[in-house]
Amino acid sequence: MRSIITDRLILRPWQQDDAHFLFDLESRQESVRYLGPYAHTMTDLEEAKESIRRRQSLDHGIYGIWLIASQEGVPLGNLLLKPVRLSQGVSLQAPIEIGWQLHQDAQGCGYATEAAKAVLEDAANRGLRTVIAIVDPNNSPSIHVCERLHMTSRGITQAYYDEDSLLFDKELGIQ
Ligand SMILES: CC(C)(COP(=O)(O)OP(=O)(O)OC[C@H]1O[C@@H](n2cnc3c(N)ncnc32)[C@H](O)[C@@H]1OP(=O)(O)O)[C@@H](O)C(=O)NCCC(=O)NCCS
Repeated sequence: MRSIITDRLILRPWQQDDAHFLFDLESRQESVRYLGPYAHTMTDLEEAKESIRRRQSLDHGIYGIWLIASQEGVPLGNLLLKPVRLSQGVSLQAPIEIGWQLHQDAQGCGYATEAAKAVLEDAANRGLRTVIAIVDPNNSPSIHVCERLHMTSRGITQAYYDEDSLLFDKELGIQ
């Protein structure tokens, strides 16, 4: 998987050495509380190592799961672009969703928006035409990220993650 560089950030593949950071991120209830019914607060470093193995296997020409780091290499969060999980009984071709997660110490600096913009620009250049975001209606910080990315709100949907969520979408190549 390729790395993506922005003004302040490096987005790179997850490595096993990042397990302590991932565990620190996902063992915090605040990090996972809006991530849907299948999200899980990690309790064991082994879970982080296994999650990194799954991330590494999702290596694809357009989408993937990147670690967001500072230019100095300090890990800050997670940026994903992948086929969305459909609710049970929904049969359509899964659209590609974008998602973000920042360590508490890295929030309030615009890093999620900067990372997402760069990934969407890269994906658009590689042929991705539409992206969606699935957001818990109570997750104001994430709704604000969607707005900063000029995504369009399509209201509540039950089509993804077996729960009510706010759907945003964006046609790529149109800024
Ligand atoms: C969702 C989440 C990533 C948003 O983080 P965030 O730091 O608020 O988002 P951004 O990185 O875009 O930063 C925007 C904030 O930085 C501020 N900021 C500071 N410097 C900035 C800069 N140079 N550029 C842009 N924004 C800047 C903005 O004013 C804004 O703060 P505000 O909302 O208080 O006005 C974070 O809340 C999170 O990790 N939550 C837990 C995981 C989660 O729920 N993920 C979403 C699943 S759908």
